[in-house]
Amino acid sequence: MSIKGKTVGFVGAGNMGEALIKGLLTAGLVPSAAIVATDVRAERLGQLERQYGIQMCPDIRQLVGRADVVILAVKPQVMTAVLREIAPGVTARTLLVSIAAGVPTARLRAELPAGVRLVRVMPNTAALVLEAATAIAKADGLHAGDLETVQEIFGAVGKVVVLDEELMDAVTALSGSGPAYVALVIEGLADGGVNMGLDRATAMTLAVQTVLGTARLLLETGLHPGQLKDMVASPGGTTMAGVAALEDGGLRRALIGAIERATRRSQELGRSG
Ligand SMILES: NC(=O)c1ccc[n+]([C@@H]2O[C@H](COP(=O)([O-])OP(=O)(O)OC[C@H]3O[C@@H](n4cnc5c(N)ncnc54)[C@H](OP(=O)(O)O)[C@@H]3O)[C@@H](O)[C@H]2O)c1
Repeated sequence: MSIKGKTVGFVGAGNMGEALIKGLLTAGLVPSAAIVATDVRAERLGQLERQYGIQMCPDIRQLVGRADVVILAVKPQVMTAVLREIAPGVTARTLLVSIAAGVPTARLRAELPAGVRLVRVMPNTAALVLEAATAIAKADGLHAGDLETVQEIFGAVGKVVVLDEELMDAVTALSGSGPAYVALVIEGLADGGVNMGLDRATAMTLAVQTVLGTARLLLETGLHPGQLKDMVASPGGTTMAGVAALEDGGLRRALIGAIERATRRSQELGRSG
């Protein structure tokens, strides 16, 4: 099914819930009258109702009854309680989508009636500016078109990949945690600029725009990062002097190690949660 003409419900209307609501409306995928949200914070619902014209529904079970697609956007630690509350109201009409980081589908299914349509998704914080990197885990027991519906929703807030659930820990480590790594790189670049005499604001502007522009260049040209590096590096020039310093510091090895360690941590948390 396409999301057009359907009602989308949000259980939890925090940062990620709002980002998705904004994305759906900006992309014109669904009208505000077809978005309904619930949250334990009444003032938060009121704010979203005023800002986006969406429907609020304080009663979580009523929301599940009204929505064709229900996006579970609460923190992982309250997910079990939420699932227990909604389970009696979940029917064959309901497509459930969990965005809880690190919570495996099997753990979600354990709280729900057999045969529910459930998809696990991992977006990242850049959804707030409609530039998320999102992974959708393939799932059994879906209706034809369910995966495409979920792709449509998350496509409204950025880029989407579809893969096997066993790869979700690597996704969490790369794109889930990735904004923090890139923020460190940007901070480091700016510190370097300040160290060499630039004022902080100028250094930050140059560092942020350099990362943004490089990412866009790679996306739009399809160039391999090595080709882009070669294009910038002239023989005996400044870029190779900088690249040599980064190789001395083990930048690429450190990034590979970061993804490996974060993947292991995600696996541990998934087992213990
Ligand atoms: N933010 C990200 O970058 C990111 C990235 C990937 C995945 N995720 C996942 O997205 C989910 C939401 O994250 P978030 O950053 O949007 O969190 P958030 O800002 O804390 O939003 C969650 C909202 O749900 C509310 N809530 C708590 N218990 C509830 C209940 N029983 N029924 C209805 N609403 C309830 C919270 O209220 P209180 O604040 O009063 O508890 C809050 O307003 C999490 O599972 C997270 O793992 C987030």
